Amino acid sequence: MDAKMEKALNDQINFELYSSYIYMAMSSYLKSLNLNGFANWMEIQVQEEVFHATKLYNFLHERGGNVEFQEIPKPRADWNSPKEVFQHAYEHEQTVTDRINNLVNLAHDLKDHATNAHLQWFVNEQVEEESSVLGVLQQIKLSGNSTDGLFMLDRELGQRVYTPPQDTKNN
Ligand code: FEO
Repeated sequence: MDAKMEKALNDQINFELYSSYIYMAMSSYLKSLNLNGFANWMEIQVQEEVFHATKLYNFLHERGGNVEFQEIPKPRADWNSPKEVFQHAYEHEQTVTDRINNLVNLAHDLKDHATNAHLQWFVNEQVEEESSVLGVLQQIKLSGNSTDGLFMLDRELGQRVYTPPQDTKNN
């Protein structure tokens, strides 16, 4: 594998783990507000991010690449409201999407068809990632930040369970 691609995939492993760290910090903030359903939603998001990192990790190994872990930056610890948490989570997912698109562009430039094929899973996954965070953000906005609305939503988000993706290749 081209060294540039290898480095970019390693950077993305780090970013996916950083994402899980951010969502863990968000979950902790939500728990501190006693919004345990919101916190549960974020805890599942943590698992999804670890899955994304692991999928790239396995792919790099399969291609004979080197996995080199890097430091994970410290995430923010405090927010002003659940709405701000989900606004930031949505912006974060948009950043992830940009990064995946850049990886696809690099794979194209290097004519690395195998990596390009592998990344298509992430392209589709990002559509879902952005949509699920945006869905919660819109529900929070609809609730008008009212306590009753937030508690109802909290009950609903408490139902979210982690379902490992069906595409188990390179899990
Ligand atoms: Fe791994 Fe939420 O993107």
